[in-house]
This record gives sequence, C-alpha cells and structure tokens, in this order.
Amino acid sequence: MSKDTLTITDNRTGRTYEIPVEHDTIQAMHLRQIKVNEDDFGMMSYDPAFKNTASTKSTITYIDGDKGILRYRGYPIEQLAEKSNYLEVAYLILYGELPTKEQYDEWEHVIVHHTFVHENITQLMKAFRHDAHPMGMFIATLAAMSTYYPEGRNISDPWIRTKQIHRLIAKLPTVAAFSYRHSRGLPYVYPDNDLSYTGNFLSMLDKMTEVKYKPDPVLERALDVLFILHADHEQNCGTATMRVIGSSHTDPYTAMAGAAAALYGPLHGGANEAVLRMLMEIGDVKNVPEFIKGVKNRERLLMGFGHRVYKNYDPRARIIKQVADEVFEVTGKNPLLAIALELERIALEDDFFVQRNLYPNVDFYSGIIYQAMRFPIAMFPVLFAIPRTIGWLAQWVEMLEDSEQKIARPRQIYLGEGERDFVPMADR
Ligand code: CMC
Repeated sequence: MSKDTLTITDNRTGRTYEIPVEHDTIQAMHLRQIKVNEDDFGMMSYDPAFKNTASTKSTITYIDGDKGILRYRGYPIEQLAEKSNYLEVAYLILYGELPTKEQYDEWEHVIVHHTFVHENITQLMKAFRHDAHPMGMFIATLAAMSTYYPEGRNISDPWIRTKQIHRLIAKLPTVAAFSYRHSRGLPYVYPDNDLSYTGNFLSMLDKMTEVKYKPDPVLERALDVLFILHADHEQNCGTATMRVIGSSHTDPYTAMAGAAAALYGPLHGGANEAVLRMLMEIGDVKNVPEFIKGVKNRERLLMGFGHRVYKNYDPRARIIKQVADEVFEVTGKNPLLAIALELERIALEDDFFVQRNLYPNVDFYSGIIYQAMRFPIAMFPVLFAIPRTIGWLAQWVEMLEDSEQKIARPRQIYLGEGERDFVPMADR
C-alpha cells in the first residue's frame, strides 16, 4: 500500500477505500466513490464557510497562521515593506519575480500613463448624492467601468487581460480620490503623472490651489508601505469572490466590483472603519475594562481582533505599529492610540482572548494611521481596496490559467420537504 494515501473504512458497508494524499490534502471528488449502493450519489464533504477546504493550488501568497508568517512569491512581508515599493510588489505578485530595472521602468511608465479616467466616468461619479459612502461610489464606478472597456470581456486573450490590469491598477486611485473629494464637496483633482503612485494619490486627495503639489515624503512612504501590506492575502473572502465571479468568465471590472463588495463588510476590509468607530465609542482608556467585559459577555466583537488564518500576531499589524510611530512624528499622536494600546494589552493577557488565539489583525492599527493622516473614516475600506487590486487580478489570472479550475459551483445538503402536491390558495 502506498504511504501517500488515506485508508477509509465505511462502517455502513464494511468497504475500505484508499484515497491518494497530495500536499497533505485529499481531493473531495475521491470521496464520491464511497457509496452505500449503486443508486447512492456518493460521499461529499460538508464545510460551511470553507474552514478546511482548499479551493485552489496557488503560487502567489504563503501564510503560516500559527507562526504569523506572510510571504508574497516567497519574499517575507517584512523585507518587502522595508525595501520595496507598492508598484514593484505589484509586479512581483502579478508576474512571480521581482522586476529588473528595465522591466520596472516600463511597468511604472505604463501605470503612470493610464491614470486618467474617461470624462463620462467623472460625470457619472458627480451624480452620486453629496453624502454617498465612498466605498459605495468606488464599487459602483468599478462595475460601470466594464461598459467603458467592453473588450475586457475577452478574458482568454492574455494581451487584452494585461491591458485591463494596467487600467485597473492605474485608474482606481483616481476613482478612489474622486469619491473622497465628492464626499467633501471639493472639486476633483486630475492625476499628476510626475509623482509616485502614492504621491499622485495624495495629490488627488489634498491638492487645493498650489501649482505643484508636493506630498510629505513620510506620509507618501507610509501609505506605500500600507499598500504593500494590503496587496494580497491568498483566499480571503474578497479574493474568493473574485475567483468565483471570474470563474463564470465575466469581465475583470465586474468581477472586481464583486470582490470589492465582499471586502466592504465589517468582518473583512470594513473592519478598519469599524475599529475606529469602536475606539471613538469607548472614548477613554478608563472605559476599556467595561468594553472588554461586554466582549466577553458576547454583546460585542472586539473589532480588529481575530482572524480565520492567523492564530498568532498578524505580521502586518506588527509592521503597521512601526509605521504609526513614523506617521505620528509628522501628524502628532492620534489620541485613540492610547485606547487601542490598552485594549491590546488587556486582551493579550485575558484568558478569553488567549484561549481563542485572538490577536490584533491588520485592521486594528491601520485606521488609527489613516485618521492621523486626516482621511475620513468612510474612506478606510477604499484605502484597503486600492492596493488589493493587484492581489485580486493576479489571483484571477492564476484561476483562468489553471486547467483544473471550472465554474465555481458548490454542492448542498438538501434538508427541505420531500415531494408534495401543490395546494390551491383557497384550500390552505
Ligand atoms: N471579538 C470577540 N470574540 C471573537 C472575535 C472578536 N473580534 N473574533 C473571534 N471571536 C471568538 C468567536 O466568538 C469564537 O468564540 P467561540 O469559539 O467561543 O464561539 C472564536 O473566537 C473563534 O472565532 P470564529 O468566529 O469562529 O472565527 P472565524 O475564523 O470564523 O472569524 C473573523 C474570523 C475575522 C471574522 C473574526 O475573528 C471577527 O469577526 N473579527 C472581528 C472583525 C475583524 O477584525 N475583521 C478583520 C479581519 S483581518 C482583515 C481582513 O480579512 O480583511
């Protein structure tokens, strides 16, 4: 008997099956042969919320949740955050290797020269209510972009795919900045292609009457590091959505609108917004013990804590804490930091959190930095979505090129009524 197998005995029939094990995993389809009789559909596995189901093989991002390790294409997140920049990391995530100088220059040039959006998109965004949530504007505009680039539906042409990827990485900061300016009642600022990716984004957010906007180098770098940290995170809710929608061969704009919608929720990328609202509600360090009591009584969640994969400190949260110190040198300390530190201190010592391996995640400190940089809270999920663009797109390409993938279509266990005859309304 091969060592790389799993032997299963079905006690209903007494039959034994040998299931191949590859990469410490069995294929769910191999369970289908396990039947009580010939009419039996065959065994399935049941895994609500995909807690223990691998839906793909991937070479993009590696996470060891127990050890708190995150790597893109093999490179530790700590090294990338220290030594690289967002556009270089985006290239790495998409193509699998760090670019040469020539490749980088060409990549940067292409991105920088696609930052403008069609004037009709600008008009479309102006039609939103004055107080529209920027993430709602972002998602709707992203979906609408599919109507501006209909060739994007030709997803089997690698050249056309690449063109849409350039457009999305380049234009979404512009869409995001317009949604911000809109929510403030400010005129939209057009891109400045002389600036860096994050420098241009800051310019579109902040520029007023100055002829040439000069981003603060510390804030420009801090935002770039935050973008690196958010670039990809393997099969999370938003990325899984991108793959599921993409598996029906829809265009990347529509698929990404779905991914961004999944990210918007407070259990996912909307958690950074929820953390800030929670910290403001707590209001003072002295109220922290009472709040923790409410969490332990199951009245509340401690937002920014816990993770499906990390059962250790999220390595991104560790880096963000360092970046926070640099940002506060420029902006002054965010008074909410003291509350966050006290929440973390108590939670890391408390049995309720220790036993459940609940540690701060990426969203716990990011909002505090964004707020210090004067971003309104509603912009936080948008700031998560911009850098996640490359992760979604790289995973989408990987899915399309994977010959084992087909349209995503889970099974169910039907527990409803058996067949019954229709009863006319008068007889019910
Ligand atoms: N506060 C209090 N209790 C928690 C929390 C929390 N933030 N997170 C998990 N728990 C408890 C949960 O009640 C459960 O307890 P028990 O086993 O006694 O019922 C246990 O810890 C395990 O939690 P779970 O809900 O089974 O874990 P999950 O993997 O389904 O959920 C999560 C992961 C991130 C949705 C969850 O931890 C959570 O809701 N956290 C708060 C929201 C948040 O910060 N989300 C950002 C995630 S990181 C960035 C991203 O993905 O976008």
